Amino acid sequence: MHTITLQDYDIKIGDFRALLHRLLSERNYTKIAVLVDENTRTHCLPTVAEVLHDFNYFVIEIPSGESHKNIQTCTEIWRQMMDNNADRHSLTLNLGGGVIGDMGGFCASTFKRGMDFLQMPTTLLSQVDASVGGKLGIGFNHVKNSIGVFNNPQTVLIDAAFLQSLSEREIRSGFAEIIKHALIADAEHWQKIRQIQDLKTVDWTAFLLPSLKIKQAVVEADPFEKGMRKALNFGHTVGHALESHALESESSLLHGEAVAAGMIAEAYLSVGNAGLSQEEFTEIKDFITRIYQPAPVAESNFSELIHLMRKDKKNAGSEINFTFLEKIGKAKINGSAEISEIEASLKSISSDS
Ligand SMILES: NC(=O)c1ccc[n+]([C@@H]2O[C@H](COP(=O)([O-])OP(=O)(O)OC[C@H]3O[C@@H](n4cnc5c(N)ncnc54)[C@H](O)[C@@H]3O)[C@@H](O)[C@H]2O)c1
Repeated sequence: MHTITLQDYDIKIGDFRALLHRLLSERNYTKIAVLVDENTRTHCLPTVAEVLHDFNYFVIEIPSGESHKNIQTCTEIWRQMMDNNADRHSLTLNLGGGVIGDMGGFCASTFKRGMDFLQMPTTLLSQVDASVGGKLGIGFNHVKNSIGVFNNPQTVLIDAAFLQSLSEREIRSGFAEIIKHALIADAEHWQKIRQIQDLKTVDWTAFLLPSLKIKQAVVEADPFEKGMRKALNFGHTVGHALESHALESESSLLHGEAVAAGMIAEAYLSVGNAGLSQEEFTEIKDFITRIYQPAPVAESNFSELIHLMRKDKKNAGSEINFTFLEKIGKAKINGSAEISEIEASLKSISSDS
């Protein structure tokens, strides 16, 4: 078992069973509300229930997917908490991906003015990213994560065994955040990542630990996203625009797939705007292309994508805000670029440049 100690809580990485049992025995919660979706109920709940059967728990199942991360689902979660007599001395155990963690944490933080919650992330994305940093929330009015709070869990329990039932596409999507963490803060970790040939055979625990340490360091330096935490946005200005555009056009693009393409574009922009060498840009692009094979971005979509980048909540004023790379392992926040350069960066995602 590996432990990462944050200011308010620990992240534990390894077999969760003994630890969960000890934690629940020590805390003596009145009730445990276990939040799952249909997939984590099937694939993850059975092993967790082996521990839970010594405690007073009930299961709340919600439908999977981002489209259910909204106030209607919260209402259903709060209703079931109330029907099961949960109170301020109860615990919510979030067993699932980022949707369950963000929404379950938000519901727990607001039910009866707040109860404890525990994160047990079951996707690679949520293990490496969504479970750290205290951001909780839901979508509202078609804007992702527009309602929410910052609040920390009691503990995060990360067990890579849960990833065995996750599809290869979801694994690849989560992997983008691991790549990003290395590119913004750890050149040595990047060199190890570059050796990966086949995502199916990776020992994820070995890659989760350094990645979580990077996220921890960045989040602790800037818990409320006033400055350095923006380093985590590398790949996300272009990535979010690609993701939103895909949603509007109902084509299928996962978050990490969009961020992977966004990292190529923003590494391209880093060459002219932050001093990234052409060699390092090529190294980044070659690896990401090998893993993700990003689709070309049609020139007819450039203006809509730039419009979406302008709407990004990270911008101050009308300028599009980027995080660039000075070199592999070192990010530079609050960058900007000319529109013609941004267009060229969109071309760079799939061209030979
Ligand atoms: N709070 C943060 O800092 C933060 C950071 C990044 C992302 N997020 C949020 O996370 C969400 C995306 O997270 P996600 O990619 O985990 O999505 P998700 O929760 O929708 O999970 C993806 C899919 O995998 C299924 N699944 C989960 N675990 C499984 C398992 N072990 N085996 C089989 N299937 C499994 C789910 O049912 C779902 O269908 C977004 O809402 C995003 O806003 C939050």
